[in-house]
Amino acid sequence: MPSQRQLFLNHIGQTSPSPLMLEIESAEGSFLYDSHGRDYLDLISGVSVSNTGHRHPAVMRALTEQAGRYMHLMVYGEVIQSPQVQYAARLASLLPPPLESVFFVNSGSEAIEGAIKLARRYTGRNEIIYFRNAYHGSTTGALSVQGSEVYRNAFRPLMPATTMAEFNSSDAVSLISKATAAVLVEPVQAEAGVIQPAGSFLDDLREACNKHGSLLIFDEVQTGFGRTGHLFSLSRYNVIPDILVLAKALGGGLPLGAFIASRDIMSSLTHDPALGHITTFGGHPLCCATGMASLEVIVREKLAEKALEKEKILRAELAGLPLREIRGEGLLLAVVPKKPEIIPALITHAPDHGLLLDYFLFCPTAFRIAPPLTISEEEIHLASRRLGTLIKAVASD
Ligand SMILES: Cc1ncc(COP(=O)(O)O)c(C=O)c1O
Repeated sequence: MPSQRQLFLNHIGQTSPSPLMLEIESAEGSFLYDSHGRDYLDLISGVSVSNTGHRHPAVMRALTEQAGRYMHLMVYGEVIQSPQVQYAARLASLLPPPLESVFFVNSGSEAIEGAIKLARRYTGRNEIIYFRNAYHGSTTGALSVQGSEVYRNAFRPLMPATTMAEFNSSDAVSLISKATAAVLVEPVQAEAGVIQPAGSFLDDLREACNKHGSLLIFDEVQTGFGRTGHLFSLSRYNVIPDILVLAKALGGGLPLGAFIASRDIMSSLTHDPALGHITTFGGHPLCCATGMASLEVIVREKLAEKALEKEKILRAELAGLPLREIRGEGLLLAVVPKKPEIIPALITHAPDHGLLLDYFLFCPTAFRIAPPLTISEEEIHLASRRLGTLIKAVASD
């Protein structure tokens, strides 16, 4: 009998040249457990997905309750499904007006595709401005607005009429013109290695979009749902986009994406042509039920605010380690070791020390710390101790 490991290599389409290959049997709270009963403290959250930890009881309850009623009924947008409409209304109640119309899809990439299509359709223009080291997904449209040649050059020709600008640069503002359908920006750049907006950068983009009749799209796929210490970064920076893109933690551990706009903007997908974006599984009732349950936990337990307190504890704990810098806010942190060349060894050997760590796509000098927002103080202490022994072991090799 071939091992699971062999089946993984033979039959799972491979993408990473060096997969972690941990064989996980179960996950609970902040931990993953392998087939040998070893625990791994999750400092990644499946890349900003498991904000309420693994198998939160409220999420599991919502999942089983909804599974007892119905699963897929009909393609998106035809049938009134309670988990969908309740979740859309709840999101609208937590977002500033006019962000009230929610188009549910399956993933962050699909939500970006929808947002780009919506902006082009609404403005009748085609140029999309995006930023260096931005990551918006891996489908062809999303790849066309990825701020790095490394991962996209091999897939050309890509979508035309895209213009790359520098994040936090005033030059970006001067690129916006009457030809610009939308400016697509992560309010906090995640895969760039957690780069926060400086000064009035986001305000300036908003103002220039207003001046030229272009739409401002915020990609909060990673920063949403309390990850950066605020329910959404748009409230942290007090800038309201025309379209907000969400995914990852949106589904509470199940796949779900959304692009959100005013009803006026969103209505342009209903005519000339009708069915402006078609998705079979978008807004799947199970995913909406778990997403809403997870969001209620985040709101009720004030996990966004607590992420700021936990960040402080974590920073204090890590202060004794040989680190050059910790960037970011809340529980989306980029950690720069004194010797960044140890990062590949750190990530590879993290599981030997009971930790899960990860890279950033576009920042080789930092590794990521983004645990579930439900991580306890005790678990933060444990993470810091394990990280300390890991760094020592790797540095002495
Ligand atoms: C900021 C951002 N936008 C979009 C995406 C794409 O989301 P998905 O992988 O669900 O397609 C990601 C994924 O990492 C992301 O980090």
